[in-house]
Amino acid sequence: MTLIETVSELRAWRRSAGKVIFVPTMGALHEGHATLVKEARQMAGSSAQVAASIFVNPLQFGPNEDFDRYPRTLEADLALCEASGADMVFAPAVREVYQADRSIKILETSLSNVLCGASRPGHFDGVCTVVAKLFNLVQPDESVFGKKDYQQLAIIRRLVRDLDIPVIIHGIETVREVDGLAMSSRNRYLTPEERAQAPALRAALVTARDAWHSGVTCGNSLLALIHDHLATHAKLGREDYVALVDQQTLESLAQAQPRSLIALAVHFGKARLIDNIELE
Ligand code: PAJ
Repeated sequence: MTLIETVSELRAWRRSAGKVIFVPTMGALHEGHATLVKEARQMAGSSAQVAASIFVNPLQFGPNEDFDRYPRTLEADLALCEASGADMVFAPAVREVYQADRSIKILETSLSNVLCGASRPGHFDGVCTVVAKLFNLVQPDESVFGKKDYQQLAIIRRLVRDLDIPVIIHGIETVREVDGLAMSSRNRYLTPEERAQAPALRAALVTARDAWHSGVTCGNSLLALIHDHLATHAKLGREDYVALVDQQTLESLAQAQPRSLIALAVHFGKARLIDNIELE
């Protein structure tokens, strides 16, 4: 596996790489990221290349968010990428990616206003800007994202559609701990007491999905089931949002229907955890 830290080396690598499948990350990698790389490896077979990036993108962190204390574990990350089948990892310094006098960014004006975007102004513009830059740098044919960050995935699909970026986007199922908690680099911020309650997020979503399967379609009823479950089983948590939305447009729905999504975010101490469930 090749480690590349500069844009000029990356350009040289790209010229001879052929077909590329790309997994962008911010590092602090866990089994969820590993699964994305392994899926990319499967898609690539032996003929295409699997590229990953590790870059903690300052543009997508708000002023009071965790950019400075975001975990940086490069050695372990590289080992995990290699073991999962990556051929190349691009891990640039911030100054390699952003010029001091940069003056252009991408604005997303619709899907970013809801769910996580409502409490993280500018976050998805930062994501769009860095992903567009990474796509221009790596020039992948296909790229793999996790459904854990469902809003991000929907926005990246919109980004490539609206800017005619020739990259096929794949969404991968959320990888979970055995107790159902979605794997996240931020789970390490949880105290043991918070960690013990965090699986309630998944359990609450499953309760609502089960109710939908047994015929409940009223959005308020489904969301009430989740509020009740969290109030009982996640007492240390503080809800940010729980919402029933369309999977593509992220518009709020009064009635659940096929291709709906229930998404939630809950603060636990220093961590803000997100999860979601698709209603098929
Ligand atoms: P990061 O949070 O490191 O996530 C990188 C990719 O891993 C994303 O596509 C995310 O959805 C996926 N992922 C994280 N946890 C997962 C899990 N438990 N199961 C499945 N996939 C999971 O998302 C970002 O970085 C950044 O915003 C980025 C797209 C790299 C732009 O900076």
